[in-house]
Amino acid sequence: MCGIIAGVGEVNLIPTGLEMLKNLEYRGYDSAGIAYFEKGEIFAQKCIGGVDKLKECCAFNIDSNVMIGHTRWATHGKVCLQNAQPIIQNNIALVHNGIFENYKEFAYEFEQNDLTVSDTFCWTKYLVKKLEELAFISEESVLQQFKQLLDNSRGSWAICFLYKYLPNCIFFAKKDSPMVLGLGDRCIWIGSDEYALSQVCRKVYHLENSQYGWVSSKNLRVYDKFGRECDIFWSKICNDLKESKTQNDCIMESEIEEGIDSAIQTLENFDFSYVSKFLKNISPKTKLYISGCGTAHNAGKIAKFWLNKHFPFVEVEYASEFLVNQQNIDSNCICIFVSQSGETADTLKCVNLAKERQAKTLGIVNMENSSIANLVDILILGKSQKEYAVAATKSYMAQLAALYALSSCVDIEKSHLRKVDRLKELLLSLKNITIERIDDVVELIKDRQSIYYLGRGMDYLVALEGALKLKEVSYIHVEAMPAGELKHGSIALIDSDFVSIVLSTQNATKEKMKTCISEIKCRGGKVVVFSPFVDVGQMGDIWVKLIECEDELAPFVLSYPLQRLAYLTAKRKGFNPDKPRNLAKSVTVE
Ligand code: M6R
Repeated sequence: MCGIIAGVGEVNLIPTGLEMLKNLEYRGYDSAGIAYFEKGEIFAQKCIGGVDKLKECCAFNIDSNVMIGHTRWATHGKVCLQNAQPIIQNNIALVHNGIFENYKEFAYEFEQNDLTVSDTFCWTKYLVKKLEELAFISEESVLQQFKQLLDNSRGSWAICFLYKYLPNCIFFAKKDSPMVLGLGDRCIWIGSDEYALSQVCRKVYHLENSQYGWVSSKNLRVYDKFGRECDIFWSKICNDLKESKTQNDCIMESEIEEGIDSAIQTLENFDFSYVSKFLKNISPKTKLYISGCGTAHNAGKIAKFWLNKHFPFVEVEYASEFLVNQQNIDSNCICIFVSQSGETADTLKCVNLAKERQAKTLGIVNMENSSIANLVDILILGKSQKEYAVAATKSYMAQLAALYALSSCVDIEKSHLRKVDRLKELLLSLKNITIERIDDVVELIKDRQSIYYLGRGMDYLVALEGALKLKEVSYIHVEAMPAGELKHGSIALIDSDFVSIVLSTQNATKEKMKTCISEIKCRGGKVVVFSPFVDVGQMGDIWVKLIECEDELAPFVLSYPLQRLAYLTAKRKGFNPDKPRNLAKSVTVE
């Protein structure tokens, strides 16, 4: 997490730099700041909150051709001005994305147990010390000290810093956190992603792990971990990124509406022969692992259901757990990694691990040119374009579509085109549907502390995502549960105040769901039913009527109303669904 922007050139970069920083706010908005040179001195402006607030702090004439900026998502150290970045110490201004895991080795004794101080704050002190040791100051001598300190550091970083005695220069380094160089008009930019650079740069260079260097308006030097100078191969910026985002009041709402199109686009773009070739030599005995975090993991859970028809051995693991339970990963496995951003640290680490173990890797990624997209053996693009709201909505729809198309590729009856055509037909029909009674559900749940989402089979898997969505934007505690588990303990919470949202789209489980509703109703509990079936729907206090489709396609029908429920509940409670508290869009720390 955390977003970094830095630029050096021949013109005033502050206004553009602030705009670029705004584009990185999805990475965190606990605090924001910039540092810049003016008349040979380093100055900084910082604030608690997001970039709009920072812009207010900068609403006076700042004119500088060298700047670094940061938007923070706190991992270590409280949200306060001291920890807001750039960290300013002595003659240095520094921004960092990542974690210095051994930062305590750098901390003063009185800071050892002080959880309020950030890792970056402590680490910067050591950089200050290292630079104080220098007898002779030049770009290369400063860089050597910086590199030595990095060699003794553990963790992940994308760092940029300014040093007072070299006022036309930015030093940088990257390890396990994304960092991209961009060629602008009479300036060079550094950013946490290509998107942040897309409005002002023609070409980009994605720094590789352990590269470091310095840049001035006239020079750019990049070195590898052995200290060898690297050639830089600039590539054209990805065109999709230049499109401006939907200008709606609420981005989450627009993105929910774009979900169906994202799924359709993904299917249109899916290269069946390319994927089939990759899957050709897989036997049903091959072990398949699917991994990702949050919403991406939830999409993977649904894919297991589809893939299990052909592969008896499919495991779905949270990426963070995959790293713990990785004993069985070997060259006989296919590992499928799902990620919207393609930068999530846990998932990225799993890809590296799978590759080390010589497993085949396949990525379902929504961001082209992201770290995961660049690393996997085979890439399937989720065509949702850039997603801005923190809550993943349209990217989930695209991931589901990609995973469904993937599972249809291994269909032994070779009926994949028929299956995918049927899905497209369903998606098109969903475009014109109005779902009624969601507002009534909002009124029923908005003041609850806690609710259940219940379903069986596929419905339970969709419930997991519905629950995550509602939780993260409306701050209601939601537990998704297989409906059959209710009577094994959780039913104790049911009383006349308790609301359960029951999902029932599967013909195979509908009778069981009726029993579940009865069990809740006879204890006075309130029930909302999302279902196409009249006999199930009528049992609920509120029935959100869905269209009927094949059981295996039901997640596509269910997801939209659940996303909308989350969005409307957040709005009704007066929260900003685009930026839920404590969250960031891209989680680039483990
Ligand atoms: O970018 P990724 O798909 O790898 O992100 C994984 C999760 O952090 C993400 O899906 C998160 O759960 C959603 N933003 C929640 O809506």
